[in-house]
Amino acid sequence: MHITVSTALLLISTITTSFVYGANISKDTSSSVIRLPLRKSAKNLDVITAQRKRSIEKRDPFEATLYNDGGSQYLVDVGIGTPLQKFTVTLDTGSADLWVPSTDCPTSQCPYTRFDATKSSTFNSSTEAFGIVYGIGSVNGTYVKDTVSVAGVSVQNQQFGLASTTADILTNPTTLGGSGTDVTTDNSTTESSGSDGPIGNGILGLGYPKLTAASNQGEPAYNPFVFNLMDQKLIQQPIFSVYMNNPDEQGWVGEVIFGGTDSSKYTGEIAYLPVAQLQTSKNPLESVLGSSNDGYYYWMVYGQGIGIGNSSSNTMTFKNVVPFIIDTGTTLTYLPDDLAVQVAEGLLGKGNFQLDSQSQVFMTSCSAADTATSLRLQMSTSEKPSDNPVTLSVPGSELLIPYDGPTVETSTTCILGIAPVGSSSGMYLIGDSVLRSAYLVFDMGENRIGFASANNVPGSVNGVDSPSSSSPIVSPMDSAYMIVTLLVSVIGMLVSTL
Ligand SMILES: *[C@@H]1O[C@H](CO)[C@@H](O)[C@H](O)[C@H]1NC(C)=O
Ligand SMILES: *[C@@H]1O[C@H](CO)[C@@H](O)[C@H](O)[C@H]1NC(C)=O
Ligand SMILES: *[C@@H]1O[C@H](CO)[C@@H](O)[C@H](O)[C@H]1NC(C)=O
Repeated sequence: MHITVSTALLLISTITTSFVYGANISKDTSSSVIRLPLRKSAKNLDVITAQRKRSIEKRDPFEATLYNDGGSQYLVDVGIGTPLQKFTVTLDTGSADLWVPSTDCPTSQCPYTRFDATKSSTFNSSTEAFGIVYGIGSVNGTYVKDTVSVAGVSVQNQQFGLASTTADILTNPTTLGGSGTDVTTDNSTTESSGSDGPIGNGILGLGYPKLTAASNQGEPAYNPFVFNLMDQKLIQQPIFSVYMNNPDEQGWVGEVIFGGTDSSKYTGEIAYLPVAQLQTSKNPLESVLGSSNDGYYYWMVYGQGIGIGNSSSNTMTFKNVVPFIIDTGTTLTYLPDDLAVQVAEGLLGKGNFQLDSQSQVFMTSCSAADTATSLRLQMSTSEKPSDNPVTLSVPGSELLIPYDGPTVETSTTCILGIAPVGSSSGMYLIGDSVLRSAYLVFDMGENRIGFASANNVPGSVNGVDSPSSSSPIVSPMDSAYMIVTLLVSVIGMLVSTL
């Protein structure tokens, strides 16, 4: 198959993560994780104007709608300061810091709304440096404190990052800030919303305190926003839930709830799995990591196997459990090279796909969507393989992302939602391509993650299918298709028990 790539596939950045697990620990096993955004053929867009639902009355649990950018990223509104300054940011369970651009950041690097500290009466400055490297780029600045409000619930004096420099995050046309909208380079500050909807203008990390940049810099770990909601008892149930919705339904169609779940968004029971812990006994910074959530960094579960096709015999069971990182900030799902190839062969058939050398994603013919196969993630209920693992099943057709047309039906070439991440990386990064089939409940109190079958998105959890919409919406998915990876690089993490 000849694939014409009409638009640039850009290699944005390479992160090096020392991420070691399992029996074969070696001091310097490092994996090179390549993430790259892809840009779909850039047409100019008809706009869906999705009316934003706003609830008049806000009380526990607190609910906010999520903006679904065609399945490539999920955005939420955040207010910061007194009075609140508004930012639309990416909801990211794969990192733990909130950051937004500051007025110290030049508009060439921070082209949208920038936080003006002089206009907030509750602002608390600091000199502590803030710096974070994501799969797609990096950001540097200072840590500060101010009121942070999401979904109508506010945390006073919340620590967060104010970015004074960014690279490849807000300005690259194919990453967060880029939905094909022109970037202004004059001194005016534009709103973070383009003609085709809002634009990611910062990141809301929902990971554990030890995943914060502060902790990784050797400073004391601090409580991210969601952990303050729990510790300050602003929510009664110490949980937050994420519903992404079908990628074909663009606009403010997803939902995040702080302090509760929404039973209208899933079918069947919520199956809970323990969060996988990392042991860091050899970490010299251990003494300053004063967190109650010892061993918890990423929201991740114990993976025990991956199945493809229509029979349980087609399941690859891991010798030992591996960490499946549950990352709403990453568009695709990344698996070690061999496994990614096996999955692609199982879903598409041998020879029916090819690795795009520049973007390192699998490209295929969209007619491969006819396949009746599915991908099944098997996750253990403990740190040993379980006889009754929880299975998240995603139909193969859901794992095809249209590349040269608005829908899978009208596209010729598709991107597979599963991509290779390196030969010995030990990285299992479960991103939006798979996660949206599940309604996700992140339980900070009991350190567990719940999975249920998400309504209106094909797929199942433990065999329970959710009803799909009877009339699929044909949406103008004309915006640049982005692949965003917000896995934070955590340096020097030694894992001895996974
Ligand atoms: C600034 O921080 C200090 C120390 O954390 C705190 O006591 C004070 O209340 C904060 N100021 C505001 C306006 O929140
Ligand atoms: C942030 O700092 C790191 C480490 O010094 C550097 O590698 C990175 O390029 C910086 N990023 C920006 C946007 O300045
Ligand atoms: C799966 O296999 C069973 C038994 O071989 C068959 O009846 C069923 O139609 C298959 N389903 C799909 C989706 O291929």
